[in-house]
Amino acid sequence: MTETSTRPRVLSGMQPSGESLHLGNYLGALVNWVKSQDDYEALFFIPDMHAITVPQDPAELRERTRKTAAQYIAGGIDVHKSTLFVQSHVPEHAQLAWVLNCITGFGEASRMTQFKDKTAKGGAESASVGLFTYPMLMAADILLYRPHGVPVGDDQRQHVELSRDLAKRFNHRFGETFVIPEAFIPAEGARIYDLQNPTSKMSKSASGPGGLINLMDDPKITAKRIKSAVTDAETVIAHDRESKPGVTNLLEILSTLTGKPVDVLVAEYDGKMYGHLKVDVADAVVSRLEPIRARTLELLADPAELDRLLAHGAAKARAIAAGTLADVYDKVGFLPPLGPVD
Ligand code: TYM
Repeated sequence: MTETSTRPRVLSGMQPSGESLHLGNYLGALVNWVKSQDDYEALFFIPDMHAITVPQDPAELRERTRKTAAQYIAGGIDVHKSTLFVQSHVPEHAQLAWVLNCITGFGEASRMTQFKDKTAKGGAESASVGLFTYPMLMAADILLYRPHGVPVGDDQRQHVELSRDLAKRFNHRFGETFVIPEAFIPAEGARIYDLQNPTSKMSKSASGPGGLINLMDDPKITAKRIKSAVTDAETVIAHDRESKPGVTNLLEILSTLTGKPVDVLVAEYDGKMYGHLKVDVADAVVSRLEPIRARTLELLADPAELDRLLAHGAAKARAIAAGTLADVYDKVGFLPPLGPVD
């Protein structure tokens, strides 16, 4: 990738908030990031500043940031094609977020569903202001790089929508500055569900580990969890999100991994039992994830090399981000600082 690239740009990131990425992160986002690398100038980053909107252990956060980077690479992000960096290495993210905070309405921010969901249990009193301003930091992540597309799963739709609104608002008030980004949400895999509770999305914060498939789990555990997935009391393998959410989730996982349309799979499983489907899903998931896990472990054995790759990525990212921020600062009327004075 060069800075003068004329290819349209994409940008995305995943929080380093767990020991591992999960199958939803992989099928909803990472698979499409990997595909995007040939047609787009791609930037992928690790939003560690978003992670601290909820309490984190500092040593763990550092480790998880490296682990997330290693999983991106092991999952197919090619650092020679794409820019890979850590959010906190590029201070322009926080700087642009402040400006965006100042053009976001308090009511508008209050309507963001993630904040409402995350504070539903503990109440707004126990949430940080950082969690409240999370969407504006995400808008800054995106808008700084003027991307055309943001490849994400379905749950990030509202956040990308806010980024679009803020970009339009800024352009309207201060003059053409930002590209209006589009959410690139895959037709298949945009929402992978919890295996034990197949009406809730798969997530790190799920109530129990049984419903979660982690990229870094032992393959035996992965196979066991898939074979214990909740289905229903019937026996027919059919795609119906309302009445058969468990079977539908398994069919969608298999379809995304094999590239076979769901209706083709349904025809293939005609007359077969749920057990057959589960065995095939387990095989497909394990054979896809096992090499990623092994490669991640290899990469993590050389943290200095990972840190070097991330430093290189941050320098490339900053070269773009600094230009956009300078433009924004000028447009909002900040007095440019003089260079060094005696
Ligand atoms: P995060 O870390 O929650 O999720 C990372 C990506 O994984 C997708 N995803 C899923 N896709 C399908 N099924 C699921 N069950 C599932 N769970 C997660 C998410 O949609 C996402 O694409 N706010 C973002 C991180 C972020 C970001 C950004 C993303 C910060 N700044 C700028 C894009 C651009 C987040 O928390 O994703």
